[in-house]
Amino acid sequence: MRSSAIPQTDLAPSAICLGSSNFGNGIAPADAYQLLDAYVACGGTFIDTAAVYANWLPGEKNSSEKTIGRWLAANGRRDSIVLATKGAHPELATMHVPRMSPAEILDDLETSLRNLQTGWIDIYWLHRDDTARPVAEIIDTLHGQVAAGKIRYFACSNWRAERIAAAQAYAAGRGITGFVANQMRWSLAQIDPAATGDPTTVAMDDVTYAYHRRTELAAIPYSSQAGGYFQKMAQGRAGDVRPNQQKLFGCQENAARLARVQQLAQETGYSVSQLVLAYLTNQPFPTIPIVGCRSVAQVEDSMRAGDVYLTSEQVDWLARGDAQKQ
Ligand SMILES: NC(=O)c1ccc[n+]([C@@H]2O[C@H](COP(=O)([O-])OP(=O)(O)OC[C@H]3O[C@@H](n4cnc5c(N)ncnc54)[C@H](OP(=O)(O)O)[C@@H]3O)[C@@H](O)[C@H]2O)c1
Repeated sequence: MRSSAIPQTDLAPSAICLGSSNFGNGIAPADAYQLLDAYVACGGTFIDTAAVYANWLPGEKNSSEKTIGRWLAANGRRDSIVLATKGAHPELATMHVPRMSPAEILDDLETSLRNLQTGWIDIYWLHRDDTARPVAEIIDTLHGQVAAGKIRYFACSNWRAERIAAAQAYAAGRGITGFVANQMRWSLAQIDPAATGDPTTVAMDDVTYAYHRRTELAAIPYSSQAGGYFQKMAQGRAGDVRPNQQKLFGCQENAARLARVQQLAQETGYSVSQLVLAYLTNQPFPTIPIVGCRSVAQVEDSMRAGDVYLTSEQVDWLARGDAQKQ
């Protein structure tokens, strides 16, 4: 598995990151440990979680972070893992009410450190934005935690390009490191962002794509496999595509992309899974997709994408040149 250096940092994690959104309450701890073990056995070194993960399911609060914390405590692997978690997510019952005051950020960070049983987070993500809050206050709060040694770097998720640019300009003016990465919804599948049903999330778009190209800011996309849409369709398992996925991905353009990915699979010998992820790992700026896997077989399959190299022509052709028009 190749590694992927994150500019502005000394981090070079594996080219594929493991997501954990249902660990604990949705994927039982024993099963989650198996996924984590399989991921590491495949060369994985980058784990993505969040304080809010699996809080939408009945059971323990912060169960994803706690499951990962117990796994790390049991195996002594903390030093070899790039551990990323997120805070400042709205309460689930009031998604329209941001939670991004300095006190809320600091409180969430302390909770995550306890849950993960660690003294530091490698990349601390803001899970959402609050556009009413000045970027200066947000950056200063996060930088204070870098100075305190509680986080190594910080980054944003579901932020729009103009706000990222403003935050980076403020950090540069202060002579400090700003966001080292951006986490957005992005995959080979074309979507209508409005169809996600969550206006607080942000998908890759033209402006953001151009920003990443210009600045080399690392992109760490989620839902990077489009929930397995292409794999299921390629295997003739359209019945396994859930209704919400059908609504999100079931358009003519994605049918054309499916045909192209199948053609490229035939020509290169790579699998559809590999190509769906390689579309991201071979972008012209650092891009490390986060995969969500439910079984060890899915982990192993997704991880095979880590060593696939595509030409820029192949990448462009897969999405017919409009990679950024998601
Ligand atoms: N920052 C944010 O706001 C945000 C939002 C969402 C997610 N995330 C992060 O991103 C991670 C990944 O998101 P996601 O779960 O939406 O990503 P995803 O990888 O696009 O979707 C996961 C689904 O893809 C299918 N799958 C996985 N591996 C497969 C394979 N090798 N072959 C065929 N199908 C496969 C499985 O579907 P089946 O279950 O149907 O088999 C699995 O449940 C999350 O765990 C979380 O860490 C972040």
